[in-house]
Amino acid sequence: MKVSVKELKEIFKPKVTPIIWDDKNNVLTLLDQSALPFETTYVNLKTPEEVSSAIKSMKVRGAPAIGITAAYGMVLSIISSQNFEEALSSLSKAKTILDKARPTAVNLSWATSYMLSKAKDLVDNGEARNVGELISLMKEEAKKIFDAELEAELQMGIYGLEKINDGDTVLTQCNAGGLATGTGVGTALAPVKVANALGIKVSVIAPETRPWLQGSRLTVYELMTEGIPVTLIADTAVGLVMYKNMVNSIMVGADRILSDGHVYNKIGTFKEAVIGHELGIPFYALAPVTTFDMKSRVEDVVIEERDPDEVRTVRGVPIAPEGVKVYNPVFDVTPPKYVTAIITEKGIIYPPYDKNVRKVIER
Ligand code: MRU
Repeated sequence: MKVSVKELKEIFKPKVTPIIWDDKNNVLTLLDQSALPFETTYVNLKTPEEVSSAIKSMKVRGAPAIGITAAYGMVLSIISSQNFEEALSSLSKAKTILDKARPTAVNLSWATSYMLSKAKDLVDNGEARNVGELISLMKEEAKKIFDAELEAELQMGIYGLEKINDGDTVLTQCNAGGLATGTGVGTALAPVKVANALGIKVSVIAPETRPWLQGSRLTVYELMTEGIPVTLIADTAVGLVMYKNMVNSIMVGADRILSDGHVYNKIGTFKEAVIGHELGIPFYALAPVTTFDMKSRVEDVVIEERDPDEVRTVRGVPIAPEGVKVYNPVFDVTPPKYVTAIITEKGIIYPPYDKNVRKVIER
């Protein structure tokens, strides 16, 4: 079925808005994803420090969503600047604070670098004639990152549709939907949402995604809100659902993709890819080009480790003897040999990735 991004914008109305920018009062409002689906609460942020802390505590999470949030964090840093010098120094400081919030998703430092270099350009080329103009133009830049993300996701949804047949079931991991990107659409879930909008039947199997439960709390909530059929499974059931032919394809998002095709995503993704490979089930990673890290190698990438209590407890209730030693890495890396294809807004990338990633990304 042929459909364009423009047509999708008309028919597809996202039902969740996790990131809201108030341009008049210069306030960033986030839907608190740590409280979902039990409470729908919002937090109001006015400084880069507050934005960094919201990213750290995962009130906002998901690679593209933290990128967009960080871009607004950069804007917040210059709201009361009196001159260019002060503004550029505040932006550099804000970048340092924001980049430290979480280490694995590359969209975060991509967005802060983009905003900083944009500000320098606007000052150097005279497009901003005073600091007031700089602030307005920087707000426009943050909005452009959001708009480009939405376009990219709808385009990925269109490409991903080629990999979905009527009646299919897609296995995912974590939440790589509209909550994770801020747009209401998503990356891994974009083809599912586009298919659903076009009347193509597709359902999703969502592993709970311990320890933070992005699958059970967020993916299930998001899909149920949109009326898309979803079945929740324990993380430990992933192998069986594939073995029992209950899965037609695996679609996941990514926090970072290297130029040789290594895919960093939520812990548990690697296991899905290997089992899928063994059983002949295609594994697709979906991500915008801002998720690609063309410089780092596997040994350079920091995999975030979070609080051991996330594993010792489930939402505050102990599930292990007190004080047990815990290892809590929250991302894993899937080697290219298990990745059937990488779906981006610029096209679908097939192996060999060490040649083809660059060809598509630099198009
Ligand atoms: O720790 P999180 O919840 O920020 O991890 C999110 C993921 O791993 C997502 O799959 C990834 O960011 C892609 S989001 C579209």
